[in-house]
Amino acid sequence: MNILVTGCSGFIGSNFVRMVLRDYPTWQICNLDLLTYAGNPENLRDVEDNPNYRFYQGDIVDPEAVEKAASLLPGPVDAIVNFAAESHVDNSIKNPGIFVQTNIQGTLTLLNYAQKHKIRLVQVSTDEVYGTLGATGLFTEDTPLAPNSPYSASKTGADLLVRAWVETYGLDAVVTRCSNNYGPYQYPEKLIPLAVSHLMEGKNIPVYGKGLNVRDWLHVDDHCTGILLALEKGKSGGIYNIGGNNEWTNIDIAHEIVKIMGLSTDRIEFVEDRLGHDLRYAIDATLIRTELGWEPKYDFTTGLPETIKWYQENEAWWKPLKARLGQ
Ligand SMILES: NC(=O)c1ccc[n+]([C@@H]2O[C@H](COP(=O)([O-])OP(=O)(O)OC[C@H]3O[C@@H](n4cnc5c(N)ncnc54)[C@H](O)[C@@H]3O)[C@@H](O)[C@H]2O)c1
Repeated sequence: MNILVTGCSGFIGSNFVRMVLRDYPTWQICNLDLLTYAGNPENLRDVEDNPNYRFYQGDIVDPEAVEKAASLLPGPVDAIVNFAAESHVDNSIKNPGIFVQTNIQGTLTLLNYAQKHKIRLVQVSTDEVYGTLGATGLFTEDTPLAPNSPYSASKTGADLLVRAWVETYGLDAVVTRCSNNYGPYQYPEKLIPLAVSHLMEGKNIPVYGKGLNVRDWLHVDDHCTGILLALEKGKSGGIYNIGGNNEWTNIDIAHEIVKIMGLSTDRIEFVEDRLGHDLRYAIDATLIRTELGWEPKYDFTTGLPETIKWYQENEAWWKPLKARLGQ
């Protein structure tokens, strides 16, 4: 397999590349990444000399960049996995334009490439396309799309383009919709790395509103195994929710983090809520479990302490990123 993967200098993509290079030694990968603020060459420093890995710095919006990245592979591209995106909801509220550009226009460029070469495209999407849940219920693949933030609206736009390319042109494409990820190499603007690094720097953990928003947390490796199954066995035109049945309020996560780090709950600070903050996300992952045989390996009781330890041991990784963020 020759696969073109995009956005793999970020959090999930870098974990995906590492997993593929470890578990699929005959696969060849080219990572096309623009290296925005969220793209960090350090995330893949340990594999950059692997002969099965290549990197091309470019924009997924630009068809020429896609062609150039593809040409670095030893043969024709067999599939594309699209991780590249602007991914931070707060940034999308301040600056939505770039989200439309990368997440929608960029996906269009990749769809055109996949269509031209008659290859499979896996679109890595999010549960946020479904909007918000009340206190009960789960998102299934049939839940109506009702995005509330500019980020989720742009991801929904991309999902709908994929659907149209499948229906209109018969493109072989699969969409995955995953819940919140945690694990190593997550940019320290996101809740768990932000909390751990803030605590290590002697700052408090900022929690939005009253901390009652609920997210369904999944370890990044479990997300990556779901994407690999979708790539290899997913039904063409299929949509697969990925989630670990692991719902937590933000305040409970904050409590858990301070407890694991041996600190006091005084270190939790409530801050002004995010605009349009979705109350609850929770995933029904029955389809990917039954149709593709996906099973998560991690649960929070092992995954969270392991992840906290990773940030504690890798201050040299996150420190410069936080300095750049001005946090
Ligand atoms: N993080 C989560 O919890 C989560 C959950 C579900 C789905 N997703 C989706 O998974 C994907 C990866 O998320 P992440 O958390 O790793 O994001 P990230 O922000 O850590 O990484 C995004 C990567 O995309 C690159 N990129 C951005 N714009 C680009 C462009 N125009 N051309 C090429 N590269 C570009 C960045 O440089 C970066 O390396 C995204 O599509 C996101 O919507 C994320």
